[in-house]
Amino acid sequence: MLAKTPPMGWNSWNTFARDVNEEIVLGAVDALVEKGYKDAGYEYIVIDDCWSLKERDNEGKLVADPEKFPHGMKYVADYVHSKGLKFGMYSCAGIRTCADYPGSFGHEYTDAKTFAEWGVDFLKYDYCNFPEFADTKNAYLTMSMALKASGREILFSACNWGVEEPWKWMRSVGVHMYRSTGDIFDNYKSFTDIIHSQDENFCMSAPGCFNDPDMLIVGMYGKGHVGEGHGYEGCTDTEYESHFVRWCLFSAPLMIGGDIRNMSPFCEKLMQNKALIAINQDEEARPPFKVKANNLDPMRGEIYVKHMSNNRFAIAFFNDYDKDGQMLLFLEAAGIPYHTGVTLDITDALTGEHIGVINQDFFKAEVKTHGCRIFTAELTTR
Ligand code: GLA
Repeated sequence: MLAKTPPMGWNSWNTFARDVNEEIVLGAVDALVEKGYKDAGYEYIVIDDCWSLKERDNEGKLVADPEKFPHGMKYVADYVHSKGLKFGMYSCAGIRTCADYPGSFGHEYTDAKTFAEWGVDFLKYDYCNFPEFADTKNAYLTMSMALKASGREILFSACNWGVEEPWKWMRSVGVHMYRSTGDIFDNYKSFTDIIHSQDENFCMSAPGCFNDPDMLIVGMYGKGHVGEGHGYEGCTDTEYESHFVRWCLFSAPLMIGGDIRNMSPFCEKLMQNKALIAINQDEEARPPFKVKANNLDPMRGEIYVKHMSNNRFAIAFFNDYDKDGQMLLFLEAAGIPYHTGVTLDITDALTGEHIGVINQDFFKAEVKTHGCRIFTAELTTR
């Protein structure tokens, strides 16, 4: 089964965009392996838009740009596979891609075959320049069928930015993950707006098909296409932590968008945090529930509890305000009234520190502005 849990990997777009080439991609493959990402669970190396020539060849096939990819795509795929990783590529349901390269509309079966011949394991499928007369759902279904007929098992990653409410039908046309929003940028407002817009749709994520709120910006610090390329200065480490934790909590695919060859130690450690990845990869893939705010909680901020397998839980606090503060989770609001004697034994997921058994009717967390705290918990008695 593909995408049994949210897919994890690296994608070229957020940092490199049009400048993607073989050297960058092979460098990312090496970094994924040598810097510990592969061991942490990251698996797919994905080349986004701008990899092909501007026109198809005489047989109507897509051609890799020989200047950017001098050894062709099969060579890249073989290199990726030789490291025990999987290879992803990009095309578009429209006539041209977003960056104006040939799209797959009307060429779905030819292109799926080409990708299969090259050894592709993952296809991101965009939506730019989609003909007005055509049917969106049918276009994704057609490529889904073409991939299944290609003779190779290929994970289908749809990207139509939420058009026609993809959370309602992408699973039914065989897609494994689907972008539900417009593009992310390297900025706090961008990722919080994205996650808030999908709050109620993440419940549709389940093994086999996940809502994809876009690739990670962790560790970009404003460098690259979705940073300075669009006039954004990037985020602080505290904000990157809040971003990554949100993606883990909502069972989002974890596709790294930063330059993993030169990642900051803080962000490298964050994206390889075992406890966070275990929350993201939990086999039940349940959405977290938002705890009802209590009047005694001065912040009345965002507090979530996520049920996980084996009677374990994740508890997350997000501080969206412009100052540091205390946030209070009243256990009754998490379904655990004080008089029952039942309570939680908690561990800080970010630091690994065992906090212990909660002996009162609430749990208090100090949360930095734009930051978060996240804990794992098990039920116990006082
Ligand atoms: C769209 C997608 C992005 C990226 C670019 C490539 O904007 O949403 O993720 O693939 O196209 O041009």
